[in-house]
Amino acid sequence: AEPLRIALAGLGTVGTGVIELLAANRSTIERRAGRPLEIVAVNARDRARNRGVDLSPYAWVDDMQAMAQRGDVDVVLELVGGSDGPALTLARAALDAGKAFVTANKAMIAHHGLALAEQAALRGVPLKFEAAVAGGIPVVKGLREGAAANRIERIYGILNGTCNYILSEMEHTGADFGEMLKAAQEKGYAEADPTFDIEGVDAAHKLAILAAIGFGARVDFANVEATGIGEVRAADITQAGALGYVIRLVGIASLDESADEARLLQRVRPCLVARGHPLAAVTGPTNAVVAEGNFSGQLLFQGAGAGAGPTASAVVADLIDIARGDSGAPFSVPVEQLEQFSPADPGN
Ligand code: NDP
Ligand code: HSE
Repeated sequence: AEPLRIALAGLGTVGTGVIELLAANRSTIERRAGRPLEIVAVNARDRARNRGVDLSPYAWVDDMQAMAQRGDVDVVLELVGGSDGPALTLARAALDAGKAFVTANKAMIAHHGLALAEQAALRGVPLKFEAAVAGGIPVVKGLREGAAANRIERIYGILNGTCNYILSEMEHTGADFGEMLKAAQEKGYAEADPTFDIEGVDAAHKLAILAAIGFGARVDFANVEATGIGEVRAADITQAGALGYVIRLVGIASLDESADEARLLQRVRPCLVARGHPLAAVTGPTNAVVAEGNFSGQLLFQGAGAGAGPTASAVVADLIDIARGDSGAPFSVPVEQLEQFSPADPGN
């Protein structure tokens, strides 16, 4: 069978994780995809850098956009990061050239997901971003496909692995905030700019994407109220523990139907979570998402939320879908049918 030919932009934590996964699970992936998945071209900033993976089988292309438009490329895989800049230029160039597009970039999808979905729909090509939310957990698919029959009433959960790792390590070992942030960076959990993690912005990106999928709404990142964990002190964690609670950074999206027009409320903030609650047992870089459907009841999705292996696993699952001919996008609702919620009042 003809291979699915991939151009890979970004050879950091996730990009090299994808190369390693494709090599390690080659025959399983080929069997499931029905054809081989082959990287043909790669790009990053620094060509000379040793990345611990063999890049010799692939063409190195200096110009990312030119790489996206090559005739021997079927799918462009963006693992660069950033809401705008080179990642967005690449996405537009790839879709414009009629290439399928896969990304793990939640910042870009939270800001431009709908416009990119429209461009993809117009060109009739797939746009996929399973890895953008909650790393290795198939929650985008789970919400879009698994909960498709439901009216989703509330979505909440732990959406940032770095913050959860820091909070749970502080809780269990009394570790220092700064040291744990450094460890999260070394382990490949944190964003290139870790203030996105610490200030709750990364979790807000993910919440806005999940809410859009779950509630069939436009992505409304601008109206997510986000407070991060920068103000949480070791003494707060100890005091919470004495009262039977742990502290977790929790994102919540729900519908406020009390007004004439339903409003989507989206918040990210550190919360006291009672020790018996499933979210209290979520430690390390793990994420957990609860979706409440009117017929399904509570669905709990849990697993590794950050790191090379789990994130690569979600990225390659998208590539396998495309190899099998799945041309859908997570925002599959025609744009004119999406509900537009009024922005939440500040202070809600
Ligand atoms: P890294 O910082 O490890 O890697 C980024 C890669 O992009 C590097 O190879 C870098 O090149 C390249 N790059 C950056 N800027 C440019 C540029 N201007 N031109 C060309 N190449 C560039 O990031 P991650 O692998 O951790 O993350 C990649 C994406 O995946 C991000 O969108 C992130 O949010 C997302 N993600 C990450 C997860 C994780 O656990 N790490 C989990 C889920 C999603 P060079 O190496 O030469 O500097
Ligand atoms: N920086 C992110 C986190 C990576 O810590 O959750 C996964 O999206």
